[in-house]
Amino acid sequence: MLVTGGAGFIGANFVRRMVPRRPDIDVTVVDSLNYAASRANLAPVEDRIEFAHGSIADAGLADRLVKDADIVVNFAAESHNDHSLADPRPFLESNVIGIWNLLEAARKHRTRLHHVSTDEVFGELSLDDPGRFDEQARYNPSSPYSATKASADLLVRAWARSFGVEATISNCSNNYGPLQHVEKFIPRQITNILLGVKPKLYGTGRNVRDWIHVDDHNAAVEAIIDRGRAGETYLIGAECEAANLTIVQTLLTIMGKPGDWFDFVPDRPGHDLRYAIDPSKIRGELGWRPRYRNLEEGLEATVAWYSGHRAAWEGAKAAAERRYEAIGR
Ligand code: NAD
Ligand code: DAU
Repeated sequence: MLVTGGAGFIGANFVRRMVPRRPDIDVTVVDSLNYAASRANLAPVEDRIEFAHGSIADAGLADRLVKDADIVVNFAAESHNDHSLADPRPFLESNVIGIWNLLEAARKHRTRLHHVSTDEVFGELSLDDPGRFDEQARYNPSSPYSATKASADLLVRAWARSFGVEATISNCSNNYGPLQHVEKFIPRQITNILLGVKPKLYGTGRNVRDWIHVDDHNAAVEAIIDRGRAGETYLIGAECEAANLTIVQTLLTIMGKPGDWFDFVPDRPGHDLRYAIDPSKIRGELGWRPRYRNLEEGLEATVAWYSGHRAAWEGAKAAAERRYEAIGR
């Protein structure tokens, strides 16, 4: 199994999940080790995997690695919306050229491919819309990041239909859990509070995200690899919608701070209002169920993890905050 982006938050969680559970599978990780990656994310399984340092945007490397694999699981991507607004080029290279290279190699070597994507490809729902995204939702991305993820999904669909590549796609909602990079919303606020800095809410704080624990996301990816039908898309979500303000207030309560101890900062341009996933298909067809159904418990566990593992994030925190300072957020 070739796991791309396996030194990042979700990819490394997947590798740490699969290696002990599936001793029959040899895992190779390829990762370009960008600012969000860390080899330490793979420490518990380091001696049981092969690691290739390089980019899937390198067609020759992608071809060599895919040739030796029975299945490719593609987590590799530039993943942060705010960066995509400041500098879209790396997003095109990793998220579009990268998957194109993997697809061409999968086509040539007849390799199965699972592509990990996001609910952001569907754009936003309004706050009072009773609907949720399902597998028929229209593609309508808002940011350069989500436009590149949408492009990748469409390339995967085209290579499956036109060239018979055995591919599946999953579109998941917002992940949280241990080892997420401190630039992302939940770890940014937890680490701010731990350092005595007020949490920062973009705009009005009313934007809604549908949160899922990273372990549940990867349990779903494993189910799709095992039992998913080629050519199909599966949406993954744990039905845990919450406004950003609610998340911050929950964290403040867990961490013993007053409920109004936060700052509003200027909004993200093009900021999607709400994401929400209807997971009926993956529940019904593959029998997947999330283990973390209570967001407050998941957040408590995440606060405990960041409090107990300062060395894992302190190095990245200052650099992440300098990047935020430069864009006024
Ligand atoms: P992350 O930024 O933590 O990790 C991405 C990893 O990909 C990093 O290790 C990085 O070095 C690597 N990478 C980037 N470009 C590469 C390239 N060209 N070649 C090889 N490696 C490369 O991101 P994440 O949160 O772990 O997200 C992983 C995947 O899941 C992404 O595809 C993302 O779009 C998708 N996703 C994320 C979420 C979320 O909430 N974080 C939700 C749904 C889907
Ligand atoms: O929906 C899935 C997507 O979730 C993934 O595809 C992306 O890779 C992942 O980064 C995430 O995208 P978001 O833009 O939703 O996540 P982010 O953590 O950047 O922000 C979550 C929400 O919190 C969003 O409404 C913006 C807001 N926010 C974010 C930060 C960093 C704040 O209010 N304050 C902040 O400091």
